[in-house]
Amino acid sequence: MKIAVIGGAGYIGSHVSRELLDFGHEVFVYDNLSSGLRQNLFKEADFTLGDILDVKSLDDFFEKTKPEGIVHLAALKAAGESMLLPEKYSVNNITGSINILNAAAKHGVKYIVFSSSASVYGSPKYLPMDEKHTTEPENYYGYTKLAIEQNLEWYRKLRGINYAALRYFNAAGYDIKGRISGLEQNPANLLPIVMEVAVGKRTFVEVFGNDYETPDGTGVRDYIHVSDLARAHRMAFDKLQSIGKSFTINLGGSSGTSVLEVIKAAERISGRKIEYKIAPRRVGDAPTVLANPAYAKEFLGWQAEHSDLNTLLESTWVVYKK
Ligand code: WQD
Repeated sequence: MKIAVIGGAGYIGSHVSRELLDFGHEVFVYDNLSSGLRQNLFKEADFTLGDILDVKSLDDFFEKTKPEGIVHLAALKAAGESMLLPEKYSVNNITGSINILNAAAKHGVKYIVFSSSASVYGSPKYLPMDEKHTTEPENYYGYTKLAIEQNLEWYRKLRGINYAALRYFNAAGYDIKGRISGLEQNPANLLPIVMEVAVGKRTFVEVFGNDYETPDGTGVRDYIHVSDLARAHRMAFDKLQSIGKSFTINLGGSSGTSVLEVIKAAERISGRKIEYKIAPRRVGDAPTVLANPAYAKEFLGWQAEHSDLNTLLESTWVVYKK
């Protein structure tokens, strides 16, 4: 299938592009390189430098590439920042997605796989979280993802574009074959921050609270390997093509890992001391966030295969230690 990967020079986008190329799809990357990296691009994939806020550039891209399917991963994703700068998030995430939907409708695109997030749920009302959990986002970033999901549903009804909304839990790790090595700049997520301490780019990790109702008092999350996420995107296209219906799926592994467990494992794998300081809880953090992967398994036939803590950290350390 001819597939446009919008945001394909990014951390997840590059892994999705690689997976689609490995399975014989034709990949056309559209990225403004605001956080994506040229080094994450593959020679087999056509690349267009462009912004999703530039309607003319998007239109030319669709005219040129005529994709049957789209993967949309171009978004700002720092939950904390979204509460300080909602204007950046409403324009880039929501307006940008509307531009993509309008271009898709105009150019007869049939399928959209959308990078959504567990943030649409807000604080867990029960664990592990399945797709029926209420969607009450507690940060503006999570709201933008939910707003886009709701627009996908309207464009399905009114323009016949079928979609797969994939709600990622905590994406981590790197391509296990070492084919992707772009480092995220100014990361906000735990694993890259821990790795920056391991290589001496930071002096310590702040542990946002150690008095949660969790086994060791620190936050527990469902870390999912980016290669597992990439496989789910490919499988989602196959499913969309075969059933012609839309769906929403949680992508997680449902085994939880705490902040301190991540730090200890990173020390073991890197052989480096990783200093940390206990800091106040971060506003909006839940003690534990875990996905129920049953529907992904039953409906898509997908489950996490590389999301054990060792693989997540070893594949990341290989990239950071260079
Ligand atoms: C993980 C754990 C922190 C940094 C966010 C978004 C979510 C998704 C993934 C895009 C928590 C703790 C972190 C640090 C720490 N993003 N932590 N010190 O908050 O679970 O999810 O990223 O899709 O939408 O909300 O990820 O990596 O920020 O935090 O103690 O310096 O690590 O408290 O328990 P989070 P995270």
